[in-house]
Order: sequence, then structure tokens, then C-alpha cells
Amino acid sequence: MQNTMKALVINKPTKAEDVKLTDYPIPKVKSGWVLVKIRSFGLNHSEQILRLEEISAPYIQKPVIPGIECVGEIADASDSYFKVGQKVIALMGGMGRSFNGSYAQYALLPVHHVFSIESNLSWEELGAIPETYFTAWGSLVECLHLQKGDKLLIRGATCALGYAAISLAKAMGAFVIATTHRENKIPLLEKTAVDKIILDDGSLKDKNFRVDKALELVGAKTLLDTMKIIKPSPQAYVCHTGILGGVYSLDDFDPIKDIPNSVYLTGFFSNYPSQQTIDDIFNFINEKKIKPYIGKIYDFNDLRQACIDQDSGNVNGKIVIKVA
Ligand SMILES: NC(=O)c1ccc[n+]([C@@H]2O[C@H](COP(=O)([O-])OP(=O)(O)OC[C@H]3O[C@@H](n4cnc5c(N)ncnc54)[C@H](OP(=O)(O)O)[C@@H]3O)[C@@H](O)[C@H]2O)c1
Repeated sequence: MQNTMKALVINKPTKAEDVKLTDYPIPKVKSGWVLVKIRSFGLNHSEQILRLEEISAPYIQKPVIPGIECVGEIADASDSYFKVGQKVIALMGGMGRSFNGSYAQYALLPVHHVFSIESNLSWEELGAIPETYFTAWGSLVECLHLQKGDKLLIRGATCALGYAAISLAKAMGAFVIATTHRENKIPLLEKTAVDKIILDDGSLKDKNFRVDKALELVGAKTLLDTMKIIKPSPQAYVCHTGILGGVYSLDDFDPIKDIPNSVYLTGFFSNYPSQQTIDDIFNFINEKKIKPYIGKIYDFNDLRQACIDQDSGNVNGKIVIKVA
């Protein structure tokens, strides 16, 4: 095996135009970590935040190879139970933040954040799944306890996570209402299985509809308004998962007055995947024949262009990078 690989390595805020692959040593395995040959990975909103600003934060390793998720094959199993060549996905747990991530040909990853999968999907299709479908699944199943027939709002649906949540929620039998803050995105939502589309002007509480449950992807900017359109019931859940609106916390939050009576507020954090949940997701995807919603696929050598397109927001759906 060669000693070096191509990778994106950053140590300061980096505009997409300055993204450049460099030669970097292929990491050497150590106990409890496995070497993964990366076949594809998806781009995430949180990686964009890391590349543009969060890289300056003291808790980020510097320099760092970004990338919080990947799919690939075990290249060196180290002292783990994996076999060389086994198909795996990996996500989170500090990947691309406190240790090097997936914008590379190989990644050295802690064994407890690497999961085996059974799937006939292509590497590109698989690249759209780990972080996005794990987060959509966790929000809908673990947090919202979504049931057949539930009326679900997905606020800020025109992101990779939104499209994934629409397809999973529809496959679970929910009635799905999706919002976009851009009129020109309505035709894109119309191409999905969504039941109703609402143009979001920032206030839904005065519009004439109510839902059982809501997946909040715009975040703190709209959360209080979202909670006001939930029908009171023993299963009136709101899950705060996204921060697309760029507001990360609530000032002067008054739980007594801001959370309506009998509405339950929860949040999902994708940092704790498990083999059991990954198996549940892939069993569901395989059984329901769900095809991941991909915005655009790029070759690894075109990572710079993919980041430019990510920053300009002109790709709809998951951006997937094909590594080999
Ligand atoms: N809690 C967790 O563990 C977790 C895990 C994964 C992701 N997330 C969060 O979930 C959100 C989606 O992530 P992603 O990776 O799927 O995003 P993404 O695919 O990169 O989507 C970004 C797109 O969202 C769209 N968007 C929709 N509503 C928006 C609004 N109100 N304000 C600004 N942009 C809006 C924008 O396009 P238009 O403006 O053109 O519609 C933007 O291009 C992010 O906030 C991310 O940080 C959270």
C-alpha cells in the first residue's frame, strides 16, 4: 500500500474557492481504531460551518481533515472484530473535529463509531445515508415517536435532512407537511412524496392549520412559532434538530410561557449512533426500497467545486463525493 493519500487539510477559515487537496500520510492503525478506505462521503451543513468559521474554535483539532461521515471498506481491521474488505459506514463521535475525518482517501476511525452494513445500494447512494438518514431516523423514531397517520410538520424541508425525513416519514405512514422559505423551491418539494407544502414567511401560528408533531430544522429562529401550531395531546412532540436559520440558542427563553401546555419539546443530537440503530435504518430502507435523495455527485478531485456549490446553495439534496 502507498504511504500517502489525497486529503483536504485545513487549519483556518477556508472559503470554498481555497479548498485544495494535498498529499497527506495514510494514518497508521492503533488499538481500538480501524483504517477505512473511503468510497464516498456526503457533505453536511455542519462541515460548512466548520470550514467557514468553527475551525477557529479552541476545541477543534488543528490542522484537521473535515468530514463527519463516510462509507467504505475496512482496509486494516487492527485489533477489532471487523474483517478486511467489510462494507462499513462511519459517522460523528468527533470525526472531522477532534480527529481527522472523511475528506480523504482513507480515515483512521474509532471502532465504536464504525458500523457494518448490508446493502445493495451503490457507493454513491450509500454516501447520502449515514449522517442524514441517522439524524432523520433518530428525530422521527426516537424523539417524535412517529406513528402511522400522524400529521407531521417538517420546517425547513429543502435540505438533505429534510428530503430524507420526508421519505422516511411517508414510508412510516405519516401525513407530511413541508415548509420552504423560498417560493422557487416549491416545485422541488412537489416532486417528493410530501402531502402539503407551505411557503414559510417566518410565522406559521396564524396560518390555518395544526399538526400532531413537528421536526424543526430551521431552529431557534422559528422554534417558538413551531410549538404554537401543535395540537395539544399526550403525543404532542416537537423535535429541534436543525439550525438552518443561523440562530443557535434562545435568549430569554421562558419555559413556562414559551412551551404551550401539554406540548413536549425534545432535541436530537446525532453523536451517538449504534449498530442496532444502523441495522434498523438499513432494514427499513431495504424493506421499503427507499432510494436516498441525492442532489449531485462529484468526483473527489472536484471537492473544491462541490464546496463552491454547497456555499452558493444551488444543489438541492445531498451532495455526495465519490472517492474511488
Ligand atoms: N442535530 C443534529 O445532530 C444534526 C445532524 C445533522 C444535521 N443537522 C442540522 O440539520 C440542518 C440540515 O442539515 P443538512 O446537512 O441536511 O443541510 P444542507 O443539505 O446543507 O442544506 C442546506 C440548505 O438548507 C436550505 N434551507 C431550508 N430552509 C432554510 C432556512 N430557513 N434558512 C436557511 N437555509 C434553509 C438552504 O437552501 P434554501 O435556502 O435554498 O432552501 C440551504 O442550501 C442543519 O442545520 C444541520 O446543522 C443537525
